[in-house]
Amino acid sequence: MYLGIDFGTSYSAAAAIVGGELQLVRFGDAEQFRTAVFFPERVPDPADFTLTPALEAQLEAQLRLARSQQRQLADAATARGQQPPSRSDAELRRDALRVVRRQWLEDRTRTASAPVASFQHALFGDEAVEGYLDSGGGNLIESPKSMFGYRLDPQVRRVIVHIATHILEHIRLTASHQFGVPVRGAVIGRPVEFRSSMGAQGSVQAIEILREAAAAAGFDHVTFLEEPAAAAMHYHRSLASRQHALIVDIGGGTTDVAHAQLGGGVAPHIARSWGLPKGGTDLDVSISLHSFMPQLGKELIRLPAHHYVDAASVHNLPRQREFQQHDYRMLDEPWGSRLRALQQPGATTRLNQTAERTKISLSGASRHRAELDFIERDLTVEAGSADFEHAIGSFLGQLERTLAKVRDELPALPASVFLTGGTSRTPQVSACVQACFAEIPLVRGDPSLGVVSGLAVAARGIAD
Ligand SMILES: Nc1ncnc2c1ncn2[C@@H]1O[C@H](COP(=O)(O)OP(=O)(O)OP(=O)(O)O)[C@@H](O)[C@H]1O
Ligand SMILES: [Mg+2]
Repeated sequence: MYLGIDFGTSYSAAAAIVGGELQLVRFGDAEQFRTAVFFPERVPDPADFTLTPALEAQLEAQLRLARSQQRQLADAATARGQQPPSRSDAELRRDALRVVRRQWLEDRTRTASAPVASFQHALFGDEAVEGYLDSGGGNLIESPKSMFGYRLDPQVRRVIVHIATHILEHIRLTASHQFGVPVRGAVIGRPVEFRSSMGAQGSVQAIEILREAAAAAGFDHVTFLEEPAAAAMHYHRSLASRQHALIVDIGGGTTDVAHAQLGGGVAPHIARSWGLPKGGTDLDVSISLHSFMPQLGKELIRLPAHHYVDAASVHNLPRQREFQQHDYRMLDEPWGSRLRALQQPGATTRLNQTAERTKISLSGASRHRAELDFIERDLTVEAGSADFEHAIGSFLGQLERTLAKVRDELPALPASVFLTGGTSRTPQVSACVQACFAEIPLVRGDPSLGVVSGLAVAARGIAD
């Protein structure tokens, strides 16, 4: 059986067409789950290396080996009448330490990325976030998709593949249980352009990671479909007559656009697609920087701005690690204490959740009071529409420029725009799309399920 899988930056969902009917996979009571996984084991961090007595013994053994090699080299050089190599004992010790440290890291990584079955206690979705906040330790990985296209060292890449494996295995097993047959094939959605630190190569790496993870999770056959093309297949089913349509999917991590010929009982034809690797999670970071970080001294004290950006970027593990390593003991009060509170386990995750809640609230109301009592007792921030407009301005500008380019490159004005994705729930965002195509109707799809529904249609097509 083939499953359509929307592996979203913020939420994941899966569905299949069974007996001609769309059936969503249920995760507990819900039709999607937050793309987060928590597991109590620690991911090895090179900064954790300390010389235990056992490692001390390894170091001494390594050093003895290096000294004896040095003596042999010296003897050989003297025999040839050459200058013997001279490396001080301190240099030999430094090299030996490097070898022991590397060996330690490799051992730790091997344990951390042991077969999936060893991650017995993993939690998914909101339970993952709660489990992490309750335990105050272990690892929470939120929105791993945001990292697929980033330059990753081999150990981090292995960990990311395992996390993706875990999520895909969770989906496969839940679906197999629900449908009563082993699910072995999938059509997985992909953005037109993944978020990337290495241009187009980022998308290549992201697909490799997903392929490896899907194979390890027990999928024997996997194909990929661009997310807006999937949403187009879903829209297609509702169109009685043939038309040119524009599909706009504004999600958590990316904004994806497709131009397609749809409807009229003829197979859909996707003509072109465009990608902007920005989405709702960028709005959360903006709100955090604009409304919350001034409470921690941003633009009030002489601390480089990147400290605040690092702290707000919860989906970027290296940036989070960077923030954790700063020493804020010398700063004036209350900034020092507040920044140290933000360095406590789980605090940046809480701040990000508060920013997301503020965004969702200001998408419907003119004011929102955010409580930051995990930073300092009774600390609250009042944010209003003007703050929201300011925080989302940069994203709206990028969206507008992308849609203007799309409009320029279209052969003719489409008959309609089909809008989906969770971020389209922000009225300013949907108004921006509407304004860019003011002459044609804006059709609102289900913001959460448009993509997965289309992936299920595509998956049925393969199975037939
Ligand atoms: N009522 C709301 N108002 C504004 N934003 C919302 C609302 N509800 C959800 N969102 C935002 O929608 C985003 C998630 O949308 P969606 O589920 O379409 O993304 P995704 O599929 O996980 O991500 P992507 O497709 O980019 O990989 C999140 O940033 C979330 O905060
Ligand atoms: Mg999506």
